Amino acid sequence: MSPGQNCQACHGFALAGTVYASATADSGAGLQGVTVEITDANQAVQTFTSNAAGNFFTRAALALPLQKAAVIRNGQRAEMSGPPAGDCNRCHTLPPTGAAVGRIHVP
Ligand code: HEC
Ligand code: HEC
Repeated sequence: MSPGQNCQACHGFALAGTVYASATADSGAGLQGVTVEITDANQAVQTFTSNAAGNFFTRAALALPLQKAAVIRNGQRAEMSGPPAGDCNRCHTLPPTGAAVGRIHVP
C-alpha cells in the first residue's frame, strides 16, 4: 500500500518505509527482499525485510532515538547515523525533506 509515502501520516507504525533501486525511482517500483537493519537507542539491532511493494513496517516499539538505519543487499550496505525516528519516508520521499537526497535505496 502507498509505497513511498509517509506511512506514519496515517498509521501508528513504530517503523515504516519503502526501499527502491535508486533515490529517484517511481513510487511503484519498490524492491522486495531487501534487508533493513535498525539499531535502536540501546544498541539493539533488529532486521526487517521489504515486502512485494518494497515496504517494511512494524508496530513493535523501538527505543528512540535510533542510532543507525542500514539497507543491505548482496552483502553491500548503505547506512545513515541517527535517523530521528522510524518514519523513514517522511524524509525519504519525492520531493524529499530533512536534507535527504530522495528515496531509501540499495547501495
Ligand atoms: C493516506 C493514508 C495512508 C498512507 C500514507 C498509508 N496508508 Fe496504509 N492504510 C491506509 C488505510 C485507510 C488502510 C485500510 C484500508 C485498506 O486496506 O486499503 C491501510 C491499510 C494498510 C495495511 C493493512 C492492509 C492489509 O492487507 O491488511 C498495511 C500493512 C498498510 N496500510 C501499510 C502501509 C505502509 C507500509 C505505508 C507506507 C509505505 C502506508 N500503509 C501508507 C491508509 C494509509
Ligand atoms: C529527518 C530525515 C530523515 C529520516 C526520518 C530518515 N532519514 Fe535516512 N537519510 C537522511 C539524510 C539527510 C541522509 C543523507 C543524505 C541521503 O543519502 O539521502 C540519509 C541517508 C540514508 C541512507 C544512506 C543513503 C546512501 O546512499 O548512503 C539510508 C540507507 C537511510 N537514510 C535509511 C533510512 C531509514 C531506513 C530510515 C527510517 C528508520 C531513515 N533513513 C530515516 C534523512 C532522514
